[in-house]
Amino acid sequence: MTVLPRLLFVLLVLQLNAISAFSTQASQPWGRRIFHHHPCNNPQQRTFSSLPLNVMTTGDGTSSSVYESIFNFTDIQENAVSKFERIDDAIMGGISLSSIRQLEGEDFARWSGVCRTDGGGFCGTRTMPFEEPLKVGANVDGFYILCRFTSDDEPQRRVWKMTTRTESSRGEQLYQAMFEIPPSEKDDEMEWMQITIPFDSFAQVRGPRLVEGAPSLNVTGGLYQIGVTLSKFQIGTNVTELPNFRAGYFELQIKEIGVYNKEVLSTETETPLLETEVVKTLSLEEANKKRPILLKILSPVTNVLFSEKARRRQSANRILRKRGLSRWQIFKYAFQNRVERKGLTGAILESAKVAIQDSFRLLLGLTLRVLVFLPFVLTLRAIQLISGFLSKATKTKQA
Ligand SMILES: *[C@@H]1O[C@H](CO)[C@@H](O)[C@H](O)[C@H]1NC(C)=O
Ligand SMILES: *[C@@H]1O[C@H](CO)[C@@H](O)[C@H](O)[C@H]1NC(C)=O
Ligand SMILES: *[C@@H]1O[C@H](CO)[C@@H](O)[C@H](O)[C@H]1NC(C)=O
Repeated sequence: MTVLPRLLFVLLVLQLNAISAFSTQASQPWGRRIFHHHPCNNPQQRTFSSLPLNVMTTGDGTSSSVYESIFNFTDIQENAVSKFERIDDAIMGGISLSSIRQLEGEDFARWSGVCRTDGGGFCGTRTMPFEEPLKVGANVDGFYILCRFTSDDEPQRRVWKMTTRTESSRGEQLYQAMFEIPPSEKDDEMEWMQITIPFDSFAQVRGPRLVEGAPSLNVTGGLYQIGVTLSKFQIGTNVTELPNFRAGYFELQIKEIGVYNKEVLSTETETPLLETEVVKTLSLEEANKKRPILLKILSPVTNVLFSEKARRRQSANRILRKRGLSRWQIFKYAFQNRVERKGLTGAILESAKVAIQDSFRLLLGLTLRVLVFLPFVLTLRAIQLISGFLSKATKTKQA
């Protein structure tokens, strides 16, 4: 893909979907926060109280922490995973791929995938838009996630982020906080960890960058989205990569995502943390209907122009070329693969389809470049020139 249409695509998505462009200047890392966690495999630590069904408390006699789940994957019947969708770097030109699912007979969700740094470097899962804002009580201190990291023993070589929104649109305004998943000890690999992420650790971000001077997170009006991200980027004033980031396969198992109140005195009357009992989310079709009209109109074009499949193919091509294979060898290899999967006719048809799509993409890219991007750049230049000229003129007048 040529650089210009790609840039145009990024600009478009950014404007409409509010994820900012990444550039890769190295810079000062933002302070990483370490949050305490309570290992919580001991059932005595979490005891039921007289609170509503989905509430748990921990603590000694005089005060305790209260946890109330928003998404509880323990009961597979609730099908909480259906309320989530993927938000991988594919939206900005990357090729990472992740999914959240729940297997029959398991009392947790598995969020897993392959994070690749080629063109991006993050994987995410987020809720579909909520039908109604999720109202949290004034007594809530933040989010918690009850999870365990099972794919390897290096969770610290990824940047983990919790994401939320306080506006109904999936527009610009996005809040994020980093959290740490401690590596599990060898002998208690399967231990669930309850990680708390206080609201006051959240900051408004655009892509991996902090928005300077933005208001802090105010949850009074309710929440509209919750998400979890694995990234190679730390949150910072400038784009900051985690040194030593571990790309590749990951799996995070999640039992609950919810809110907590750090310290409730046992003398206090217990007020629920959430006003909403069950969060209803829009279905994929409903969410698509609600997309900005421009995005809807452009989506058939952008789908072909920026097809994720095509990017994967290109990335595979690049890797094979680096290993010294010629274009012809790569084509033969791909063709044989297709023959094995689909038979000779199927392989010919698919190769033809790919060739047509690729040419179409090339043509469309060139057209866009000439018709849209060039005028755009020229207009910008013109504005700069004119405003420069005007300010010069004023200065001359003043002098
Ligand atoms: C961020 O980048 C800008 C421009 O590259 C630089 O001037 C600034 O000092 C950097 N800030 C930090 C905190 O590193
Ligand atoms: C999650 O659901 C399970 C089973 O329904 C329940 O035992 C547990 O208490 C719930 N968690 C919370 C925090 O309410
Ligand atoms: C938070 O938002 C509410 C309105 O939704 C407002 O009344 C309140 O003052 C805000 N709090 C802060 C600290 O800005």
